Amino acid sequence: MKYKKYFRKTSLKQKGDGEFFLEEIKKSKPKFFLEVGVFHGVTARNICELLFDLHGDDFQYIGLDLFEESDENKSEIIPSTNFSNPFKQIYFKYIKRQNPYSIKAVEDLLIKFKKNVNLIKGNSNNVLKKIDMTKIDYVFLDGGHEYKTVKNDLDCCNEVIENDGTILCDDYNLSYAPGVKKAIDEYVKNNNYKCEILRNYRFARIEK
Ligand SMILES: C[S@@+](CC[C@H](N)C(=O)[O-])C[C@H]1O[C@@H](n2cnc3c(N)ncnc32)[C@H](O)[C@@H]1O
Repeated sequence: MKYKKYFRKTSLKQKGDGEFFLEEIKKSKPKFFLEVGVFHGVTARNICELLFDLHGDDFQYIGLDLFEESDENKSEIIPSTNFSNPFKQIYFKYIKRQNPYSIKAVEDLLIKFKKNVNLIKGNSNNVLKKIDMTKIDYVFLDGGHEYKTVKNDLDCCNEVIENDGTILCDDYNLSYAPGVKKAIDEYVKNNNYKCEILRNYRFARIEK
C-alpha cells in the first residue's frame, strides 16, 4: 500500500519508510488505533485509509498531539512546521488559510473518517493516563522524545501490551534524542516484554 503525503509534512519521509510502516500495521490488523504525536496528520490519514480497507467502517482512531508550540511545551521536540517548498507555504497560507499543525487542519484532512476519528489536543504527560486503554490494540508512539515523556507514554499504554496488543515506537535510535532508546530499553527489560528493532534501528515493536 502506498503511503501518501497529502501535500503536508511527516516524519515518515524517507523513501520506503511509510510503506514499511503500513505493512507492519497490516500484519496486526488492529481495529482500535492510538497515535501519540500526530503532527500534520499524514500518518493518521494513511492509517485510517488502511484500517478502512481492512475493516470498512468498523475501526477507531485516536490521535493525541500538543497541536501548538508554547512555553509549557518547549522541552519537547516539535518538528519545524515551515515548508521548504514555497508552493506548499502559499497553499496553506492563502488558499487553505490554515496552519497544517492545528487540530482544525488535521480534522479537515481526516474528515472522510469523521465517525471513526477522535483527535485530542494536549500533553501526553497529562492526557494519556485519562484515556481508556481497554479496547486499544495498537499504539504508534511518536510524540515527545524526552526520556521522561517516553517513559510516561509507555507506562500509560501498558494495558495495551497486557491485552496482547502492540506498541510501535518511532525514532528508537535517534542521535539527538537518546532518551527514546533509554526509556524503551528500560521498559522492555523491566516488564520482560519482547522488543524487535526494525528498519535499520528506526522502529521498536514491543509485544508481550
Ligand atoms: C515527529 S512528530 C509526529 C509525526 C507523525 N507521527 C507523522 O508520522 O507524521 C512529533 C509530534 O509529537 C508532538 N508532541 C511532542 N511532545 C508531545 C507531548 N508531550 N504530548 C503530545 N504530543 C507531543 C509534537 O507536537 C509533534 O507534532
